[in-house]
Amino acid sequence: MNQPRMAGVPAVNPPAFVKNQKLINWVAEIAALTRPDRVYWCDGSQEEYDRLCAEMVAAGTMKKLNQAKRPNSYLANSDPSDVARVEDRTYICSAKEEDAGPTNNWMAPAEMRATLGGLFAGCMRGRTLYVVPFSMGPLGSPIAHIGVELSDSAYVAVNMRVMTRMGKAVYDVLGASGEFVPCVHTVGAPLEPGQQDVPWPCNATKYIVHYPETREIWSYGSGYGGNALLGKKCFALRIASTMGRDQGWLAEHMLILGVESPAGDKHYVAAAFPSACGKTNFAMLIPPASFKGWKVTTIGDDIAWIKPGPDGRLYAINPEAGYFGVAPGTNASTNANCMASLKSDTIFTNVALTDDGDVWWEGMTKEAPSHLIDWQGKDWTPESAKESGRKAAHPNARFTVAATQNPVLDAAWDDPAGVPLSAFIFGGRRSTTVPLVTEARSWVEGVYMAATMGSETTAAAAGQQGVVRRDPFAMLPFMGYNMSDYFQHWLNMGERIAKSGAKQPKIFCVNWFRTDENGKFIWPGFGDNMRVLKWMLARLNGTAHASENIFGLTPDFADLDWEGLGFTADQYAKITSVDQAAWQDELKLHTELFNKLSHHLPTELIQTKAVLEQRLSAL
Ligand code: GTP
Ligand code: SPV
Ligand code: MN
Repeated sequence: MNQPRMAGVPAVNPPAFVKNQKLINWVAEIAALTRPDRVYWCDGSQEEYDRLCAEMVAAGTMKKLNQAKRPNSYLANSDPSDVARVEDRTYICSAKEEDAGPTNNWMAPAEMRATLGGLFAGCMRGRTLYVVPFSMGPLGSPIAHIGVELSDSAYVAVNMRVMTRMGKAVYDVLGASGEFVPCVHTVGAPLEPGQQDVPWPCNATKYIVHYPETREIWSYGSGYGGNALLGKKCFALRIASTMGRDQGWLAEHMLILGVESPAGDKHYVAAAFPSACGKTNFAMLIPPASFKGWKVTTIGDDIAWIKPGPDGRLYAINPEAGYFGVAPGTNASTNANCMASLKSDTIFTNVALTDDGDVWWEGMTKEAPSHLIDWQGKDWTPESAKESGRKAAHPNARFTVAATQNPVLDAAWDDPAGVPLSAFIFGGRRSTTVPLVTEARSWVEGVYMAATMGSETTAAAAGQQGVVRRDPFAMLPFMGYNMSDYFQHWLNMGERIAKSGAKQPKIFCVNWFRTDENGKFIWPGFGDNMRVLKWMLARLNGTAHASENIFGLTPDFADLDWEGLGFTADQYAKITSVDQAAWQDELKLHTELFNKLSHHLPTELIQTKAVLEQRLSAL
């Protein structure tokens, strides 16, 4: 099966267990374009993972952490210019511009191919091309999809092993003629003969490109997170959303959790919050001590693939196998399950290094250690930080850890059939205006809430932080097609469930992030979010009271379980109040969004807004 070798092009040398000629031909074609020194086919073994990590330690890309304190764990520090997703460099190159829609960057496929052709030519010189085969979803399951990432980054290869089902078994599932989504990734930093490498190669020029029609992903210039681990946002959201549109399912930026009452009543809910707005934490929630017998378990923390089942209900799987989670703010009291997950076998990126070879980040402990090496490799002390304001860990510092290390992993997390969803939750980060929780009175009203959701920007994306922007369905950076067509797809899905005779999931909107006059969060959040979740479950079962307001249904103070928390009716009023002037301004932003999305915008949403406006002016 070997390809004839061209001058300057390494032998592709596929191992005997690779039987897919299309894959072999494609690897040969990309190698001929990018000119790596060698091609390496990943088998996904522990031995391979350990070896690649050891090579990165030798190269200065990673440090091995103190084996006694944090066994089999590593710290990577990225280049300071490569620390988050780059939304302004992310493109949806559909044949027609209107199919990418007004919320995406677009370029004609032929034009983009010409640009990338120039950039990718010879881009892997001096490096190894890693062939990384992966399955999104349980291997061989009818709902799973296979991708192959060709990357010149060993950091990507080891992270993909944690984040996806990666390795030899994928070649077996692919067989001789199986389909895969081709993903090409380069850090864009070829090495001339004899040139010394840097710890974190990358390029100031970046392109994160998707061709939805041909289902291809090309990523240039970044080694970080969603820019480089192409199974995650690029495949499982942007490309998968277009597959879902065509095939009648949903690819969503959602966690999936199981919640079980002491009486054994169990529900699964999926929740969409924008990046760095609480998905991982909600998915691993530990109920307050007073909630004896309540259990929350995790199916997934970032992405959900949701398909109608034979009974008409929606079933969800987590296509990922690991968590690429935000480190800052994570600690033993806010998320003990997460801290337990990170005890060993974790890759940390852009956190600080302690003097005894462990990790630290802002919010991990009340008091910072007296000395650290910060994420940029510089000396850091609490005193020096007070003066300079410099963080020890980058605000978008992350951990990469296998789902199986989560102590509250749900027993069905790997079930190819998925879990039935009882409810959807949407939530942004809003310091003002949006109340703690609202239940939509109908599917359409819920779709409206999700479509018009606003959130303050976070460090998960490069650019300004703390600016309110519309982030429909928490999918603004992850939509692979026209946003208005996506709204219509959600309306269609709702109708389809109703027609099947199945109960539609309830839709709720939440905001954990309202602040007081000193900028402090009023709501305790984290485990106490269970109080809101319990009310939602009671609403599903028809046993909880709710009051009508202009947007939907909300609990009165007396409707939530307050046991064990000294939270007053006065404080509750502060996070549930609806200010007429603030909402009039908010509605203007809905109008602005709808004007932008007017092409194909569903009329049901325009009507819903009109009703809202009437109710608001009658307040
Ligand atoms: P992505 O991985 O970027 O998609 O983020 P995510 O939605 O999984 O966010 P995550 O749970 O990692 O939380 C991001 C930040 O918000 C962390 O610093 C958390 O400590 C903080 N956070 C999470 N939940 C809450 C909450 O209920 N209240 C408050 N105040 N902060 C929270
Ligand atoms: C997000 O930004 O929503 C993430 C992290 O989950 S990344 O994989 O970098 O996109
Ligand atoms: Mn995310």
